[in-house]
Amino acid sequence: MRAEFQFHPAERPLPDDEREKILADPGFGRHFTDHMASATWTPDAGWHDLRVAALAPVTLHPAAAVLHYAQEIFEGVKAFRHADGSVWLFRPELNARRFAHSARRLALPVLDEELFVESVTALVRADRSWVPPYDGERSLYVRPYMFGSEAFLGVRPAAEVRYGVIASPAAAYFAAGSGGVTLWVSENYTRAARGGTGAAKCGGNYASSLAAQVEAAEHGCDQVLYLSGDEHRHLEESGTMNLFLVTADREVVTPCLGTILDGVTRTSVLDLAVEHGLKAVERQVGIDELRAGCADGSIVEMFAAGTAAVITPIVGFKGNGYEQVVADGRPGAATLDIRRHIVDIQYGRAADTHNWLRRVA
Ligand SMILES: Cc1ncc(COP(=O)(O)O)c(C=O)c1O
Repeated sequence: MRAEFQFHPAERPLPDDEREKILADPGFGRHFTDHMASATWTPDAGWHDLRVAALAPVTLHPAAAVLHYAQEIFEGVKAFRHADGSVWLFRPELNARRFAHSARRLALPVLDEELFVESVTALVRADRSWVPPYDGERSLYVRPYMFGSEAFLGVRPAAEVRYGVIASPAAAYFAAGSGGVTLWVSENYTRAARGGTGAAKCGGNYASSLAAQVEAAEHGCDQVLYLSGDEHRHLEESGTMNLFLVTADREVVTPCLGTILDGVTRTSVLDLAVEHGLKAVERQVGIDELRAGCADGSIVEMFAAGTAAVITPIVGFKGNGYEQVVADGRPGAATLDIRRHIVDIQYGRAADTHNWLRRVA
């Protein structure tokens, strides 16, 4: 296929020694690579000006639609360096599909799924020296996004839209052996309701989650556990991850799709469950059931799944007037096994029997 995203190399990339210093300790979301992919859409011309060029600020008219009406979506996908130096993406076609779904929900133009994957591939290829070395569970986090850039005041879909992809080297989010996280069961806030935007990855969802995240921190918890918007009774997801629990009779259970994000990691956990002697189950889980199950030992592990942290053990949760430890308050064996399995596939240490990796460099 002809390359649609033409490469215009940056004139002044960061010197090698400075980049290597960053890659030694990248943190998360603090440093950005030398290039970005970009494209513009208008109703008459469709997608045009597709390119990968030097990372540069975006200039916007103060009336740009995104600044007032939050017409914006994004994605998160990682590139991994293998021991032989090659660079691979993990299931980017699922991000492409979800991006198209989010675009439809936010009345943005759909970017062809192949073009999405091409843009991510082209940027990672251009910035392959920014993919951290193999050891230490580091990666290059890639962030595609799209927003209404037309300058106008009025509530309607923007007639000028920009697409971009940036990338940021990332450290391991959760060091194996660290203690896991605790969740705050929010009764004041919900993330989504039927017919809303919960299943879309749009910036507005995250803006509205910040107050709940502050509330969680005030209660000494790391993340929020959101309950369903209708009755405030069923588990949905955490702020940036899907939720799972493991039962004593070896089921791995996660809330059904609908008002939550269809996570790439969630799908991967469901796909791998059987290889760990677990039955994958998607169903509604009540907060009362969760509390009772943790108390009587029928729920033995809990974890969260997402691209940034892969799998994060959940060791306890708190709500208004109660506090519950999961099992003995330490990460569970199935949680750590599934985590290791996914990470080993991503870094080329375990067989990619499901054909999830796409080589880019
Ligand atoms: C709200 C929410 N749920 C779940 C996820 C997990 O999705 P994925 O595994 O595709 O990263 C994310 C992160 O993208 C998220 O922001």
